Amino acid sequence: PRNIYFSRHGESLFNVMGLLGGDSELSPRGKQYARALPSLVSTYIPNAGQLTIWTSTKKRTIATAKHLPHKKLAWEALDELEAGRADGLTYGQVEDLFPEDFANRDNDKFNYRYQEGESYRDVVARLEPVIMDLERQNHVLIIGHQAILRCIYAYFMNYSYERLPYIKIPLHTVIQLTPGAYACEEKRFKVDI
Ligand code: F6P
Repeated sequence: PRNIYFSRHGESLFNVMGLLGGDSELSPRGKQYARALPSLVSTYIPNAGQLTIWTSTKKRTIATAKHLPHKKLAWEALDELEAGRADGLTYGQVEDLFPEDFANRDNDKFNYRYQEGESYRDVVARLEPVIMDLERQNHVLIIGHQAILRCIYAYFMNYSYERLPYIKIPLHTVIQLTPGAYACEEKRFKVDI
């Protein structure tokens, strides 16, 4: 592909409350980001008319794409890392309820698998078909989740599995990657809200 575009969903109600996972709606700020996206896309993305939008099946990514007039495709494989028994909890609650797990995750975040949930390694495996399809596409904007976009970013930027789970993917920012011989060139378009 010539360029790859992706953004996290707008701020969600769970983001505001500091809760993991879930399927919450956007916060008022998140909705503002969704409303700002069409003009950001038409300003910064060349041939924006031909863009296809890929979302997960979660409400927060679909709501973020809501005002974009493009073709859309919702992939279950783009759903956020499944936090299993930690879903809907704060990091503090996870630490209280599952102290050993919390420590294990800290020691090896890439391989740590949540009880009844997934690890980053699991997510890398389930993203393989998405990435293969993405490689064949010319013009896609992914509206995704933090852990998922870390995996996609690491794939195109050749980041190690050790660094991958700590990559910073900020909210309310569209990231453009342009594949090159070794790694990609990167640009970020931020919406101030
Ligand atoms: O907090 C938002 C979120 O997308 C959670 O749903 C998810 O579990 C988490 O980020 C992933 O980040 P980390 O792997 O750093 O906990």
